[in-house]
Amino acid sequence: MSGKLYVMGVGPGASDLITVRAACILARLDVIYAPSGKKGVQSLAHSIVEEYLSPETEVCTYHFLMKSDRGEKEVVWDRVAQALQEEVAKGRKVGFITLGDPMLFSTWVFLLERIGNPLWLEIVPGITSFAAIAARSAMPLAMENQTLSVIAGTAPDAVLEQALLNHDCIVLMKVYSNFERIRELLQRHHLLQHALMMADATLPTEQCWNHLGALESGQGLSYFSTILINKNWQLPR
Ligand SMILES: C[S@@+](CC[C@H](N)C(=O)[O-])C[C@H]1O[C@@H](n2cnc3c(N)ncnc32)[C@H](O)[C@@H]1O
Repeated sequence: MSGKLYVMGVGPGASDLITVRAACILARLDVIYAPSGKKGVQSLAHSIVEEYLSPETEVCTYHFLMKSDRGEKEVVWDRVAQALQEEVAKGRKVGFITLGDPMLFSTWVFLLERIGNPLWLEIVPGITSFAAIAARSAMPLAMENQTLSVIAGTAPDAVLEQALLNHDCIVLMKVYSNFERIRELLQRHHLLQHALMMADATLPTEQCWNHLGALESGQGLSYFSTILINKNWQLPR
């Protein structure tokens, strides 16, 4: 098979935070598959890489159902995995882009389960959102013998509490619809003074909060919101 599938992490948002390898591949693709969170809305991942694409590259935007049940989502994963394999079988250079890093909390992993790891697949890592947030806020993630836990804010309270108790540094992703519950947990564990939240990191709409206790409400938070906690780091107040 002369076709190839390149799965590329495109970083957290800023176009110049993609890797040189991804930029070189993007310039010579026949077709690129770009995810869109909402039907009819431009793909953020596509807007990040637009400047690197050749005008000849065909763009396929597909909609991953985020709120549907598992069965409906699986239909989409099956369909996109099948489409990618068919494109490669035609001998095309196919790109699949995903925000941040493709191997972390990414829909790509559901496609990987279907496609396997054939010789015609190359996965290019990307800068994950929490690495970008740590850099933007100058908050370290872990040092020496410290431990780091990366966990979705959608996890049950008991799981979140274990992470808060057992680790020095904790990254809480997908916090936008669970903010009040998470803030309460942080307060109960006296961690508010060690926590910050960043939304839309590295995008023009980026916002950072060092005083989560003072934030009026989590309502209307961007989907792209992440909390970093470092018990051994004093945040500037
Ligand atoms: C489906 S996960 C994608 C994670 C991605 N693969 C990564 O490596 O960062 C979506 C979550 O990532 C986090 N996220 C992604 N981009 C972000 C950004 N620019 N700023 C803040 N958080 C972000 C948020 O917690 C969001 O709810």
